[in-house]
Amino acid sequence: MFIASEPQTKQARLSPEHEATIKATLPLVGSKINEITPLFYQKMFAAHPELIADTFNRGNQKQGDQQKALAASIATFASMLVDPNAPDPVEMLARIGHKHVSLGITRDQYQIVHDHLFAAIVEVLGADVVTADVAEAWDAVYWLMANVLIDYEEALYASNDVAAGDVFRPVTVTAKRQLTDNVYEFELTSDSGALVAPRPGQYTSVGVVLPDGARQLRQYSLLTGDENRYRIAVQIDGEVSTFLRDNVQVGDQIETTLAAGDLVLDESDAPVVLVSQGIGSTPMVGMLEHLSTTGSRRAVTVLHADDSEQAYAQREHVAALVSSLADAQLVVAYRKEGDRLSIAEHLPEGAEIYLCGGNGFLQDIREQLTAATVDPARIHFELFSPNDWLVS
Ligand SMILES: Cc1cc2nc3c(=O)[nH]c(=O)nc-3n(C[C@H](O)[C@H](O)[C@H](O)COP(=O)(O)OP(=O)(O)OC[C@H]3O[C@@H](n4cnc5c(N)ncnc54)[C@H](O)[C@@H]3O)c2cc1C
Ligand code: HEM
Repeated sequence: MFIASEPQTKQARLSPEHEATIKATLPLVGSKINEITPLFYQKMFAAHPELIADTFNRGNQKQGDQQKALAASIATFASMLVDPNAPDPVEMLARIGHKHVSLGITRDQYQIVHDHLFAAIVEVLGADVVTADVAEAWDAVYWLMANVLIDYEEALYASNDVAAGDVFRPVTVTAKRQLTDNVYEFELTSDSGALVAPRPGQYTSVGVVLPDGARQLRQYSLLTGDENRYRIAVQIDGEVSTFLRDNVQVGDQIETTLAAGDLVLDESDAPVVLVSQGIGSTPMVGMLEHLSTTGSRRAVTVLHADDSEQAYAQREHVAALVSSLADAQLVVAYRKEGDRLSIAEHLPEGAEIYLCGGNGFLQDIREQLTAATVDPARIHFELFSPNDWLVS
């Protein structure tokens, strides 16, 4: 699922009365939002236990990352509505929209989120603070944001001619291979050709039914993909990845969703720099596969940081793809050998730069890019955990 246009925020405007109320209450709501969002999830999951079992990532709930991401996104959207100088958060909305369609979220579920979110707001701030006027103004903010997301998500579903939410496909595991101590590659095949070819850099959500009956979903970047087959590499980390390693064998059936994701390779002729760390190499492999199969003549630089040569799961694959290209080079830095990835000397003029890795790594690389005065519009990144929007 992919569309070239961005989420449309231009029509999202508050009435002058609502704007005044939001300006007056934003500091209070902002200061309490980290109390409001956990209570919201608690209330929503009590009323809809199927959502925490089958739709939300319960690992993220335990860590609290998802609560922070939701809180920060609403605060960012509200700020845009009341501050003409605030940036338009289209990238944030695109990321959320892609994540939602990758999980089959539909319009009707926005009412459920609304009702529990507002119940949590009243409980934390008190009915004396959340007067009818205050509730009405925040309701307007919620639905403006929800409608931007709903329209964008419906356009994404339509891009693959599927009904909203109809993204889950049964697939058979047709190959499983251990790449390193803790990384396994899986090939997932749809016998009926019911998948869609991904854009280079996109991901799928893989669903497995765990021993307690919950159907948990996790995202995996696509190394390759077409209508019949998706290939992913999974690093063993927690509940789902361990289950995939220990319990999912060749011949088993699991679920996967149609490819989604806003971080896709641009189609220009500009040089490409792919910067990754650890398992963050997976979206880069998807992009390199595309460049290789289309016989691209773009200048490509792959910069990868890892613990050691043994830990670099895609080392041989990436090296083969790099040598298949007309103008490409691979630079690696291994922490155990005392190397730190330094990128300034590997940045061709006008390059499009793609980043993927842990938060600390991304911060480090972004500082290096800022020091090298790279245009932020040329920097694109993927995070494997919910974005707290501090890295943007
Ligand atoms: C767009 C995208 C693309 C991705 N692509 C890939 C990919 O190509 N390959 C890949 O391997 N991964 C990828 N991921 C990450 C993947 O989706 C999963 O997050 C990862 O596999 C971990 O899932 P899990 O169920 O195994 O771990 P979880 O059980 O969800 O745990 C995740 C982490 O949280 C920690 N944790 C769990 N519970 C707690 C707790 N109570 N307190 C503190 N910490 C806790 C765990 O130790 C673990 O480190 C991607 C993620 C995104 C969003
Ligand atoms: C205006 C309303 C909403 C906002 C502002 C919102 C915001 C967000 C944000 C910020 C993320 C994290 C994106 C990331 O960085 O990965 C997210 C993910 C998610 N959202 Fe929403 N969302 C909204 C509505 C909904 C609805 C209606 C549902 C369906 C019940 C839903 C289900 C999810 C799920 C399942 C995830 C992934 C969670 C995870 O993996 O931990 N959201 N949303």
